[in-house]
Amino acid sequence: MTTAFGDEHAHDDNVVALPRVQDTPDLTIPTLGPSRITSPMAPLLDARRTTEHYVDEHDRVLLDDTVAGMSSRGVQLADLPGFEPCGPRRKIFFDPSKTRAAIVTCGGLCPGLNDVIAGLVRTLTYHYRVRRVVGIRNGYQGFVADYGHDVVELTPEAVRDIATDGGTVLGTSRGPQDPDVIVDCLEQLHINVLFVIGGDGSMRGAMKIAATVAERGLMISVVGIPKTIDNDIPYIDQSFGFQTAFSIASDAIRAAQVEAQSTANGIGLVKLMGRHSGFIACYAALARSGADVVLIPEVPFGLDGEQGLLAHLRRRVEDRGHAVVVVAEGAGQDLLGHTVDDHGARDASGNAKLQDIGPYLRRRIGDHFSDAGVETSIRYIDPSYAIRSVPANPYDSVYCVRLSQAAVHAAMSGRTEMVVGRWRRRFVHIPMGVAVSRRNQVDPHGDLWMAVLESTQQPVRFG
Ligand code: F6P
Repeated sequence: MTTAFGDEHAHDDNVVALPRVQDTPDLTIPTLGPSRITSPMAPLLDARRTTEHYVDEHDRVLLDDTVAGMSSRGVQLADLPGFEPCGPRRKIFFDPSKTRAAIVTCGGLCPGLNDVIAGLVRTLTYHYRVRRVVGIRNGYQGFVADYGHDVVELTPEAVRDIATDGGTVLGTSRGPQDPDVIVDCLEQLHINVLFVIGGDGSMRGAMKIAATVAERGLMISVVGIPKTIDNDIPYIDQSFGFQTAFSIASDAIRAAQVEAQSTANGIGLVKLMGRHSGFIACYAALARSGADVVLIPEVPFGLDGEQGLLAHLRRRVEDRGHAVVVVAEGAGQDLLGHTVDDHGARDASGNAKLQDIGPYLRRRIGDHFSDAGVETSIRYIDPSYAIRSVPANPYDSVYCVRLSQAAVHAAMSGRTEMVVGRWRRRFVHIPMGVAVSRRNQVDPHGDLWMAVLESTQQPVRFG
């Protein structure tokens, strides 16, 4: 096999088996047109070249970071797929003095939304001298006249202290709205750049807005800042707010552990958010070493029999006097007669409505222990929205500021239908279509899940 690295190791048993050839997504970022205006930030860039800490605008951040991954593409080094780096451009598309920007927050809450809003406003106002930034209220509903929401004038003074609170000062809502109505509103407000802060459903909505803008031949850039505490956006190392959310979630695990330890044969059961991806459960459990079992949507489990979860728990309680179980809300849906992707009831964002695994597990664990004649007390904790309605921690706040700066640079350069994200520690532009092309999930064969198994010492499989 001829690869970017030659074929000398192709038959060497000591070399890692190459993965099958991977699909190569199209990482081209659409633009509204050529950038002809000298950026007010250009002087800052004059001396910059790619270094360990900076990627020049003409360079690329590679999609793959292993020899095996790169080799499986079967192309020359220069043709390896890569993302455009984020950052200010020397030339920009929009004349800042004539640019008007709008910001909208959509979907469920996430720590850091206000940090992103404030970061966008500051970068637009201070660095580019954009004179008008408006906030759209209550998600995409704010564009629709029937809802009667006013727009909010966003200035650096207006956003100065908003990041101390959780939530979003603009309000939010779930669900799509007619893209034609949204673009009518953008035209009425003379908006040139729109920032959408939302999850995958909101980004699909943003793609429809960008398509309508293009159909009408308008020059409006649509740039997304992906938001999800579930960390389920692909091609992003970690989504903003995730670290804050799992930190709060880990307090619930700690509480469950203390409760369980304090009663004879105590069991702590903690249910955490995570519809399709168990990242919150895994990270929160790793942050507190007290969890005995972690259950996530990506790894099915059985309850009954000697190899089942219930017998394992009973043995753990016999050995250690107590046990703590952490379950992600999307785990074990098959036990409740559902799959997370079935076509049953859905919310306004199109997400499948889940069955409640927490109370079901509590009942099954209780029944199992009483059938076995073992007295126990189960402490059930569901922190629910408490993990996402808090302000961002300092790490997430920094991350939000950097994402918002990157989003403004991208929009001012005329890039559109893209999101900003961090991939392999570098800030990059990701086409919106790629960011919603699949879901980021915990890999049952990956090292995160391995770390969880090591930490909990639970078996690889239950049942
Ligand atoms: O998608 C993020 C998330 O926090 C999920 O983990 C959770 O299932 C969902 O939002 C709940 O949000 P809401 O009740 O607002 O629909």
